[in-house]
Amino acid sequence: MVIEQDNTVDESLTWGNNDNASYFEKVPYMVLSQYTVKGGIDKGCDIDLVFPYIKNTSSLIEAGAGYGRVVKSLLDRGYKGKIYAVERSQNLCKQISNDFKESAEVICDDIQNYVPLEKVDAVLFMWSSISEFPKSQHLKLLSHMISWLKLNGILIIETISHLLIPQNADCSSKQFYSVETEYGKVNGYLPSSDEIELVSAQLGFKVKKIPYQTETGRDRIIHILSR
Ligand SMILES: C[S@@+](CC[C@H](N)C(=O)[O-])C[C@H]1O[C@@H](n2cnc3c(N)ncnc32)[C@H](O)[C@@H]1O
Repeated sequence: MVIEQDNTVDESLTWGNNDNASYFEKVPYMVLSQYTVKGGIDKGCDIDLVFPYIKNTSSLIEAGAGYGRVVKSLLDRGYKGKIYAVERSQNLCKQISNDFKESAEVICDDIQNYVPLEKVDAVLFMWSSISEFPKSQHLKLLSHMISWLKLNGILIIETISHLLIPQNADCSSKQFYSVETEYGKVNGYLPSSDEIELVSAQLGFKVKKIPYQTETGRDRIIHILSR
């Protein structure tokens, strides 16, 4: 009997965060902005929920700052602390710098390597940016971001419900998804709150969960990690 070997590679296990970098270099910021309108977070309903936890902090890092949606939402709500916006895409960094260089320090760097000069009170990881990383990279990434915090600092991780299919996904199974676009392909992984709690516990952090619905009725969750 001849047993045929299945040599197809399971993509859900082989991608990494770096594979998405070229998409974010090419995608026009207006396209990302339209996604936030469709997703119902363009006016910052996520930041409304987060704001009570950060409004009195003296500094924060926004990890993966995109085109500046969160920076704008913070400023619109009167945030007075120092904002460090860390973003890998040079194109998106140009966009944030254009709009907010007076109000935020824009740092064009990879959050996997970035080390701040001073520790901060809060790190924001919004719009399900954790999905840009496969599950296998979560522990190392969160451990690295926690190292940016002062002792009483908090890490805020926003996610889409892991039971939903992300907008425009071409393929979605077992929390892995993939989206083909004219700017390239994006892979993603939707962690469940249980998975975030497990990794946080490994790092000595507890999690407060805030489920919410966006203005277009999408189920999302804010996780507030503290020691
Ligand atoms: C979904 S967008 C979120 C944008 C913004 N945080 C918001 O809530 O509007 C994810 C962003 O993370 C950035 N990103 C992904 N991996 C990164 C990395 N390793 N270092 C820095 N930025 C990264 C992407 O370039 C993209 O701009």
